[in-house]
Amino acid sequence: MIYDVVVDFKMSNKKKSNEMWGGRFSQKSTDLLTKINSSIDIDKRLAFEDILGSQAHVEMLAKMNIISKQTKKKILSGLKKIEKELKDGDFVFDNFLEDIHMNIESRLGEIIGSEAGHVHTARSRNDQVVTDFRLWIRKAIEEIEFELSRLQMTILKKAEQNIEIIFPGYTHLQVAQPVRFSHHLLAYLEMFGRDLERFKQTKKRLNECPLGAAALAGTSFPIDRFYTAKTLGFSTPMRNSMDAVSDRDFVLEFLSDSAITMVHFSRLAEELILWGSIEFDFISLPDSLVTGSSIMPQKKNPDAAELIRAKTGRVNAALLSLLTVMKGLPLAYAKDMQEDKETVFDTFDTLILVIKITQELIENMKVKKTNMYDAASKGFSTATDLADWFVRNLGMPFREAHALTGKFVEVASEKNIKLSELSLDDLKKVNPKINKDVFKILSPENSIESRNSFGGTASREIKRQIRFWKRRLNV
Ligand code: ARG
Repeated sequence: MIYDVVVDFKMSNKKKSNEMWGGRFSQKSTDLLTKINSSIDIDKRLAFEDILGSQAHVEMLAKMNIISKQTKKKILSGLKKIEKELKDGDFVFDNFLEDIHMNIESRLGEIIGSEAGHVHTARSRNDQVVTDFRLWIRKAIEEIEFELSRLQMTILKKAEQNIEIIFPGYTHLQVAQPVRFSHHLLAYLEMFGRDLERFKQTKKRLNECPLGAAALAGTSFPIDRFYTAKTLGFSTPMRNSMDAVSDRDFVLEFLSDSAITMVHFSRLAEELILWGSIEFDFISLPDSLVTGSSIMPQKKNPDAAELIRAKTGRVNAALLSLLTVMKGLPLAYAKDMQEDKETVFDTFDTLILVIKITQELIENMKVKKTNMYDAASKGFSTATDLADWFVRNLGMPFREAHALTGKFVEVASEKNIKLSELSLDDLKKVNPKINKDVFKILSPENSIESRNSFGGTASREIKRQIRFWKRRLNV
């Protein structure tokens, strides 16, 4: 959980100008330039990844005899000290030092003296930042994978517990056909399963190492990029140094995966809101998960679900924002790319919060079985079963059966009764061949059990899905 450690770092402005690149400058930056240029407030979250990258880099430099063993030792011990300062919250960040890379390098200089400068041999901030960011996103994805699987297990458990609960299946938000409530829940398991797969694929694709690409063209030092890649857990160094420093596809993919995932969460949230309303009344949430109104004493509001629904906005916007930043950027690095981080951090925080609270909502919601059943038997939900009966038993083409059923729905609707409450006489009046067997198929229970095609709502099929997910989730 290193993400939490980095939240409230100290800030100072003790430097008067940027000493890390100020060599050829005779005037110091204006305050506004410092303000627009500085990213330390944001990219301080890459601190630990930056240290990891530097550690691997100096190991490699020493192995290749580009720096001495003593220098390597000194640098590594300085980096360890910095790591501790960061963990303890003692590290003081400086706006004049622009970003995390220069803040850490400058502090290294304070600790070990001018030998610190060797750390930047055969490296540029361009390959450094993108290495850090790949490491960070890789780790973020692992955390998302963990939380998403936990949520999936909760959904699976709810589905298994509620396998007998009959629920109105909707299309156009109009009662369509009865289904098992588990069937509905398992649909979300599928969605989150795809989300997980997408994140995994993104993680696999991003797992190539840009370090050693230097500014853009590579370096004249005899570096071993395969060594640094391996040390940092990447599968391989990136082939093209120009691509290595200018590519942000992995960030776009992360944001896109997150946006799609948030769309799923917002749909689930919307359903929880509807189901909890007095009109649907399918579920109730404990007081600990709803909020009250300051004026209407009777209210219990589903704020958590509403905020899940709303937070989809910022995540979708993050994707659009970076797509816009990257569009039309010439190769290779441009400072525009510094804008790639803030929305990613926000997206990650949002997503983790949303996954966790959704898990809590699903785990603690109480299912109102009778209300679900009543709704599932309203709205002529078994009309398709009736039409199917005509096809099967009277040999009618489906279109004709559809039209005939439509007539019965009209009669029942006029009498304000369910299809199952029509009398045999009423049915026979429309078609004399109809017999009393027809009533068997008009109940929601029958309707459900008859839908036993692969992936359908019959218990055999729901159990098959539950077995699949148990295997997949290892439970
Ligand atoms: N803070 C910068 C970023 O996030 C690091 C790279 C800066 N490179 C440079 N050539 N100015 O993109």
